[in-house]
Amino acid sequence: MSNAMLQTEIPGLELIHRGKVRETYEVDDRHLLLVATDRLSAFDVVFDQPIPDKGAVLTRLSAWWFEQLAGLGRSHFVSADPADLPEPARDPSLADRSMLVRRARRVDAECVVRGYLAGSGWAEYQRAGTVCGMPLPAGLREADRLPEPIFTPSTKAEVGHDENISTAQLADMVGADLARQLEERSIALYVEGARRAESVGLILADTKFEFGFIDDELAVIDEVLTPDSSRFWDGEAYAPGSSPQSFDKQFVRDFVAATGWNKEPPAPTLPDDVIRGTRDRYVAAYERLTGRTWEATA
Ligand SMILES: Nc1ncnc2c1ncn2[C@@H]1O[C@H](COP(=O)(O)OP(=O)(O)O)[C@@H](O)[C@H]1O
Ligand SMILES: [Mg+2]
Repeated sequence: MSNAMLQTEIPGLELIHRGKVRETYEVDDRHLLLVATDRLSAFDVVFDQPIPDKGAVLTRLSAWWFEQLAGLGRSHFVSADPADLPEPARDPSLADRSMLVRRARRVDAECVVRGYLAGSGWAEYQRAGTVCGMPLPAGLREADRLPEPIFTPSTKAEVGHDENISTAQLADMVGADLARQLEERSIALYVEGARRAESVGLILADTKFEFGFIDDELAVIDEVLTPDSSRFWDGEAYAPGSSPQSFDKQFVRDFVAATGWNKEPPAPTLPDDVIRGTRDRYVAAYERLTGRTWEATA
């Protein structure tokens, strides 16, 4: 197992942002280095125990997806090959978790696509028959497939929780034309991601994309189709009407929910088997999706 890392510091590179999971360094006017730590966040609270290999899985899986999805439009991806990284990031402890990207002018919206009824969507549906205000057919069960994938954007809050917004509100925020492009690109990426996941026996229940402008062109940025940004279910064990076996942090959410935690910091301590089980789920998602064997090089 690789050395787990909760926080990074890269001599010679300027840290410009420390997110919940990833840290952004400036490389030059046009490039950033995105470094995924092994931090875990659930319910927007960051845990103080690392999940070994998680950062490297996020980076390597995103890099793989960016290459697979290149036909669907521009992305910020430049390279995750250690030889292309700025010299101070080539250290093995950093190289596996680091990605060189084009700097983008971010669109401050989270572009969520849901193909199945899960999580907060399922909770709202039980209450109101809607998901993010969108009416759905009656009689759906937990984890049921939706008639078609739906686009349910939210705000991207610098602090606190993101808030769901309607597509009309998104259009007010960013303009009708861009809102439509965000929806179309997000749905197209989801559909292709879901198709590839299905071909290896996984269900992509939902996911979140971020976009930005690079050279005045709309590009998908951030991470894509990872277990941090998506719900992946095991197709074999899938049975609507119950909470599916998943390859993501649902395992942690279920554990902390059972402790009665109120979802306010500090986060509860995770036992070793929950940490290990989470690590194994992230690695399994990587292996299933890419068809590669996980080799921690750090
Ligand atoms: N190409 C890019 N240009 C500018 N910002 C980016 C780019 N790709 C990702 N980001 C931003 O970098 C940050 C990644 O760190 P993350 O841990 O995901 O933060 P957060 O807590 O906001 O989710 C996010 O704020 C994301 O919007
Ligand atoms: Mg993020």
